[in-house]
Amino acid sequence: MNASITHPSIDQGKKVYNDIFEMLPSEENPSPMVRINRMNPSAGFILLAKLEWMNPFGSVKDRPAWQMLRQLEEQGEVSSERGLVEPTSGNTGFSLAMMARTRGYSMRAVVPNKIPLEKKILLKIAGAELDVINDALCPAPGLGDGSINLAKTRAKAEKHRYVMPNQYENEQNVLAHFHTTGPEIWRQTDGTVTHVFLSLGTCGTVSGVARFLRDKNPHIKIIAVQPTEGHDVPGLRNVSQLEATKLFDETLIDQIMEIDYELAYTRALELCQKEGLTAGPSCGLIYEGARQVIETEKEGVGVMIFPDNIFKYTANMAKHIPVLAENTSPP
Ligand SMILES: Cc1ncc(COP(=O)(O)O)c(C=O)c1O
Repeated sequence: MNASITHPSIDQGKKVYNDIFEMLPSEENPSPMVRINRMNPSAGFILLAKLEWMNPFGSVKDRPAWQMLRQLEEQGEVSSERGLVEPTSGNTGFSLAMMARTRGYSMRAVVPNKIPLEKKILLKIAGAELDVINDALCPAPGLGDGSINLAKTRAKAEKHRYVMPNQYENEQNVLAHFHTTGPEIWRQTDGTVTHVFLSLGTCGTVSGVARFLRDKNPHIKIIAVQPTEGHDVPGLRNVSQLEATKLFDETLIDQIMEIDYELAYTRALELCQKEGLTAGPSCGLIYEGARQVIETEKEGVGVMIFPDNIFKYTANMAKHIPVLAENTSPP
């Protein structure tokens, strides 16, 4: 199944849509790319940021959420009586909840306590019920009573009420990027892309994008940028946690860079202030990986997949960059 949306009747120039779902990204309606100018260390290297926060529900996760939900709909697995249960560090849950509620299904999100409060409240705004548990930052399979296990238990014990898309194991997560993100990058760069910089959570993005682009040109370098251990960058896993997701395929990745997670926050701030990009912490980390590669490679066409923007992470930002919290109340 290819759930990417093609609506020949839509004039993409006017951008008037009959329904929010028509706004979902596709090869014909790609998420925008913006060139990095002031923070690009080499004039010979074209560096582009693909802004996934421009998707209708605000993150890269609109893609797998839609693909997984469409498959469940086609299989008759969801109805007004039977909704979704999903472990999430926030973005997938938000996309799924917005989509599910709009289409008449319930949504239960199982979240680790440590995700930002903003994300928990956003899930409730989207109409999700929450199970908040003491778990690692990113839901981790195999943890005794982790979010994934709790969601699985609910899906099993309350089969009549819930079905679990399971972004950590669902091939539709990979296919979403194979059918949309990969073709978009190829088209938007006229096939000139030489490097893709991204990060790893469920690994749906990397596996789908790499599979598509490698087939077009096996020389394209797929570079994953990961935070150092002990990090608190929402949505990401340290390299030591990667075998946890079933969608991780090392053979599709040329290089995994491990970068000090504090740089996720400082680079995100710089992207805001120097490039005018409202980039979230994972974008900051991905940018730092790209910057280091460009320092040595000097020439190429690189695309960074920027998963989401800064608005949900203001508290995290202030925690890591305390000056941001100064002068925010009367003397
Ligand atoms: C906020 C956020 N969500 C998700 C992901 C990871 O995407 P995936 O789950 O497809 O590996 C990232 C990767 O950079 C991210 O920063």
